[in-house]
Amino acid sequence: MEIGQFMVQALKSKRIAILSSGGDAPGMNACIRSVVRSAFAEGASVLGVKKGFEGLMTGELQALSMRSVGNIIQRGGTILGSSRSADFRKKKGREKAYRCLQDWAVDALICLGGDGTLTGAKIFSEEFRIPVIGIPCTIDNDLFGTDFSIGFDTAVETAVDCIDKIRDTADSHGRVFLIEVMGKNTGHLAVEVGLAAGAEFLVLPEVPYRFSDLLSRIRQGISRGKSGSIVIVAEREQPGLVIQIGKQLEKKIQRDVKTMILGHLQRGGSPSARDRNLASRFGALSIDLLKKGKNRRMTVIQRGDYRDIGFSQVIGKSRPIDKEKVRLLGLLSQ
Ligand code: F6P
Repeated sequence: MEIGQFMVQALKSKRIAILSSGGDAPGMNACIRSVVRSAFAEGASVLGVKKGFEGLMTGELQALSMRSVGNIIQRGGTILGSSRSADFRKKKGREKAYRCLQDWAVDALICLGGDGTLTGAKIFSEEFRIPVIGIPCTIDNDLFGTDFSIGFDTAVETAVDCIDKIRDTADSHGRVFLIEVMGKNTGHLAVEVGLAAGAEFLVLPEVPYRFSDLLSRIRQGISRGKSGSIVIVAEREQPGLVIQIGKQLEKKIQRDVKTMILGHLQRGGSPSARDRNLASRFGALSIDLLKKGKNRRMTVIQRGDYRDIGFSQVIGKSRPIDKEKVRLLGLLSQ
């Protein structure tokens, strides 16, 4: 029997727990608000778990009322707090978490987060008899199966805004700026930001990189009379690439080369309208999925359609970058 059927169809009087885990993403709060209010509309109640899987293991749960999620739709971060839990990766930790859910008489769990969170949610849902729904929240936008994750749109806007400002100096001083954006070894954020900011070159984990290509692009720009140049470098597992490229480049061109790491600046701030709306839709959809008795599913948006797909179709797969955007960037930034 599929565990989803185990969940009673109607959600009336059911208790749903919600947590946010991994890197916070702008729009998480809008999503929590949507989950709570959609659940109440079905006669269910919601418990908020503090600090992600950590709080699930230590029993830090609290009731979320309709009013407790008021005035948060515009706030960045997550009111529930978040963590990257090493203990939840261990079976013992997950057993502890399940016992806690039993103690609190929780009927279903909703997990907000990125790849690490949803991997944890998948394993947990396979080990224990409790329906689990995942909602993709990550500025990296690297989850397979969904065109957008909550937080990505805001992070793109934030990074582009920063780069526009940096370009003022790049142009005024005739400098080359190498800017590292986040992405945890994926280039989705870098591609979107690079195209929107009119960057001259991208260094991505998914595309073979040659220093000679970067050099000739910069030299070409100088010979065509460009005042400044912007190069976007996607963050790697091992830090330091952007600095290394900067040092290499400095030796080869007669211009000032500056390196910048945008870092956590990209993760904060008020969510964009697009992220708030995506979060509101995903939150409501997660309740709808539980109502239908579904389990081990993630909410997704595919070509404008809101739907759900199984954890097993998502976890362990990598989302390909948009090669067309990479090509276009090269064409337009000459
Ligand atoms: O997954 C989101 C993300 O911001 C990545 O882009 C980045 O590599 C990572 O989180 C940083 O994590 P932390 O905030 O734990 O340092």
